[in-house]
Parts: sequence; C-alpha cells; structure tokens
Amino acid sequence: MSTYNSVRGTTDFNPQQALAFNAIVAKARQILQSFSYEEIILPLLEEEGLFIRSTGATSDIAEKQLFRIADKDGVCLRPEGTAQVVRYFLENSLHRQGDFYKFSYIGAMFRGERPQKGRLRQFHHIGCEVLGGTSPYLDAETIILAANLLSAIGLTTYEIKLNTLGCPEDKEKFALGLKGRLEAKRSALCEDCQRRLDKNPLRILDCKNRDCKQIVAGLPSIDEDLCPGCKENFTKVLSILDQAQIKYTRDKNLVRGLDYYTNTVFEITSSALGSQDALGAGGRYNRLVENLGGPSIPAVGFALGIERLLIALGEKTFPCEFNVFIAPLDEHLRDFAFSLTMRLRAAGINCDTDYCGKSLKAQMRLAQKKGARFVLVIGEDEIKENCVMVKDMLKSEQNKVPMDKLVETIKNNI
Ligand code: HAM
Repeated sequence: MSTYNSVRGTTDFNPQQALAFNAIVAKARQILQSFSYEEIILPLLEEEGLFIRSTGATSDIAEKQLFRIADKDGVCLRPEGTAQVVRYFLENSLHRQGDFYKFSYIGAMFRGERPQKGRLRQFHHIGCEVLGGTSPYLDAETIILAANLLSAIGLTTYEIKLNTLGCPEDKEKFALGLKGRLEAKRSALCEDCQRRLDKNPLRILDCKNRDCKQIVAGLPSIDEDLCPGCKENFTKVLSILDQAQIKYTRDKNLVRGLDYYTNTVFEITSSALGSQDALGAGGRYNRLVENLGGPSIPAVGFALGIERLLIALGEKTFPCEFNVFIAPLDEHLRDFAFSLTMRLRAAGINCDTDYCGKSLKAQMRLAQKKGARFVLVIGEDEIKENCVMVKDMLKSEQNKVPMDKLVETIKNNI
C-alpha cells in the first residue's frame, strides 16, 4: 500500500524541536509584552488582493509565491502578517478609536518558494507592528526589541543591517535615477534584473548575482536623494541605536523585497544559516495603511522566522518539564498507581505512569528517557505503610516518604 510523506517545504517538529519552538514563542511573548505589544490572532486565509496590493505586483510574493485556494475565488494562505494586520486595523476602524497601537502575532505563513535549507513553504513568524507615530524612537525601539528577542533566546552572533529608503518621493527619485544609470548596462544584468529594470529597479540593488553586484557597487546611494527631513530622521535613528549600544552595519544596498517599505529598513542575518541568512527583517511602511484604503497612518514593524531561529540555535536543547514517573511493581497495584498519578497532576506536578505492565527495569528506562527527576516505586509494603519509595534520579538516592508529605517533598525538590 502506498504511504504518505510530508508536503515539500513543510516541517514536522519532533518533541524536542517542539519544546524549542515553544520555548522561543514563550520568551518572545514575555518580551513583546514588556514592550507593551498586544497579541492578536488572525486567520490563515486572506484575500489574495490584499497581498498583491501591499507587497507590490512585481514582488516575488505577488508574482510567484501566493498559495491560492483552488476552488475559492481570490482566497489565499497568508504569506506574511504586515498587510494582514493593516487589514484588521482598517476593518475594525481602529483609527477612529485611538491613534497609536502596538500589535504582535505569532503563526504560520505560506509562500510557494523553491524549498531549501531555511527556505520553506510553510514557516512561522513572530511579528510585531506599530501603527501610528513617525518618531525615530519607534524605528530604533523596534530594532532594539528584535535584538532583545534574539539575545533572550540565546542568539548573540548575528548582524543587523540597516538602511533608509527615504519617503516615497525620495524612493521614487532614487529609483528613477537608478533606472537611468543602469539602462546603458541593461544587457550585462541578469535576466531577472533586466525585468526589474523596467518594473522595480530598486530590487536590482539586492540581487545576489555576482555580475549585478559588481555593476551596482559603484553607483551613488540613496543618501544623495534623501530630503532633509528623511536625512535628519535616519541620523536620529542611528544615534538612538548608538546610545542603546546596538551594533549595526549600514548597508546602502538593502532595499527589501516587499514594496511597502519607506524610510528605515533592516535585516538581521546570521552566518549559521547558509544562503538563506536572514533571521528576521522589517522596517517602516508609512504609506501602506493609506494604500490599503485607510487614512495616512505611519507604521513600523518586523518579523523573525522561527525555523531560522531554530537552525541558528543549532544543538541547543530545551529542558522538558517532566517531574515524576510512577512505577507499580505489579498489575494489581495499577489502580493505586493511577489514582496517585492523577493526584500529583492535580497538585501541579508533571507526571506519568506505566500502562503496559512493564517490568520495573523497563519502567526505570522509560522514566529516564522521559527525563523524570523522581521515580515513585509502588509496592505492597509501601501501600501497607502508607508511604512511597521515592528514587531521586539526579542524586541517585532513594527514601521512603510518607504519603501526606509526598506532594510537599516533590515540590520542594523540582
Ligand atoms: P520577510 O523578510 O519576508 O518580511 O520575512 C521575515 C522573516 O521570515 C525572514 O527574515 C525569514 O527569517 C523568515 N522567512 C521568510 N520567508 C521564509 C521562508 N520561505 N522560509 C522560512 N523562513 C522564512 C516580512 O514578512 C515582513 N512582513 C516583515 C515586517 C513586519 N516588516 C514590517 N513589519
């Protein structure tokens, strides 16, 4: 009979990987809350037009990566969270209720990419978006938050790359200048960039092709097209980061693949990742709310890719919170063992017992595999004496503990 495999570009998380995933998510929630973000949970399904309009018709997402639901007109699996948060914001007219919001979200995203290490078709974002406010403190705080999240989960070797795209007018001016300068070199560009030259010249700046990299290397940067306001704003973002002792590299070719960005953009990369080296990325998108039919509301945010965080963490293991294994010595002691298991669980102790009539030796092996700190051996004598033999797996010692002191003894030692 034929069997089934997981769908290309998706991952199963085994128990150890799920522990790591959940530990990252728990840490992220804690830190996002400390920065006053409110978590929202949004659907996996959205209208595809939302992403085409927001990321730009020539973005990879719009051109080739949307997972469309075949028999449901115009519905797709969400490829990212930013446009979705703006959709939520506008649908609920939140701008009429307040002028400043900080939202966070954690969940699966879908992109029809060519799968490779760190590049999946289903992956997970920890994302956050600030709606309202143009203060450079918000740009800097967003980057500081990303750095805090990474260090909280134990990642310290990463690089923050930073750039500004200026306001939409600066961005447009720069893109036009770039097109003019590159026109003469059109035939030397890669096939993709020849298309980009007509549709979205800025994207040529972050093309990975060696020839294209060489061609753009000596070109004037966005700095020459920045208006005084955007220049001053970006200088302030950098100085706040300096004050906060956040290390970053200015990368004048960083443009990002999603069209909605304006002003500050950043990417956090790790050499532990290989060619898909971005742990996370984000920036300002001051015109997106307006482009999606709302009022003019500036915004900034970022998203980290959980699967890439896990790759970068490598072999780091996360402890499993399993405390007690209850091992009855004989089948007729199972009733007692089972009700004791339930009693300890009710007292908040993580525990389990044997259900298959295993020998004591096999039960000890299972307890060890599960990482139990204590094994409670249940025999006739213990029941008669109203006590339990508690084996401490860490200290390799055992003691008889009276039944009425059991919960207290275990709790004091875990
Ligand atoms: P993004 O750069 O497309 O930005 O995705 C953010 C992060 O998600 C990437 O840096 C990477 O870690 C992870 N990621 C992206 N695609 C994949 C994939 N195919 N497989 C595995 N991981 C992936 C955004 O999505 C923006 N919405 C971020 C943002 C929020 N900007 C402002 N606010």
